[in-house]
Amino acid sequence: MVLIHPVIQSAALLLMLYVFWLGLQRFASRHLGVKRVFHWKTHVLFGQVVTLVMMGGALGGLFITRLTWKDYLITGHHGVYGLTLSAVLAGSLITGLIMDGRKKKRSVLPLIHAALGLSAVLMGLYQLRTGIWVLNNYTHYQLF
Ligand code: HEM
Ligand code: HEM
Repeated sequence: MVLIHPVIQSAALLLMLYVFWLGLQRFASRHLGVKRVFHWKTHVLFGQVVTLVMMGGALGGLFITRLTWKDYLITGHHGVYGLTLSAVLAGSLITGLIMDGRKKKRSVLPLIHAALGLSAVLMGLYQLRTGIWVLNNYTHYQLF
């Protein structure tokens, strides 16, 4: 039971790296003057999947922590930053939906969206690190 959340979130993190890679192609052609194809529909579809799965996964983590240890937010950085990451993801989703809904040439919003996306990737990697720490210290699963 305790492993469901780590497995789902690690898969979501991998998919997020792919979504970020797709976004970087757009960034390169818009801001760095390099010719790159941007797979718009794939980015939008997987972007939404990643965001919703990861935010749902954070709720799942809270729920399983409550079930297993009878309390919320007891894992220190992992729990608190996990909720902060969910807020960053909501920002990335909202800016993404605006840009996808009304397509036009924009300068500021894509940059805000890119900054939120980069933050989400870095925070996601940090979640992986602190999540492994939680597994090693709170459960009988020992990773690395
Ligand atoms: C965590 C997930 C996501 C990451 C890491 C991410 C990252 C990026 C990056 C780096 C760019 C390039 C921005 C630029 O050119 O300055 C971009 C563009 C874009 N993203 Fe995302 N994104 C994510 C989720 C989403 C979602 C959920 C949507 C839509 C619902 C979306 C829609 C778009 C669109 C439409 C563009 C092109 C904007 C334009 O150039 O006009 N993204 N994304
Ligand atoms: C990447 C996005 C992730 C988010 C947003 C996230 C969020 C959360 C949250 C909010 C909790 C509840 C903590 C508490 O109430 O103190 C939690 C629990 C937990 N997380 Fe994560 N987490 C993520 C990834 C991971 C990863 C990659 C791992 C391990 C490799 C992991 C391992 C755990 C463990 C072991 C728990 C305790 C409950 C359980 O096992 O389901 N998490 N997480």
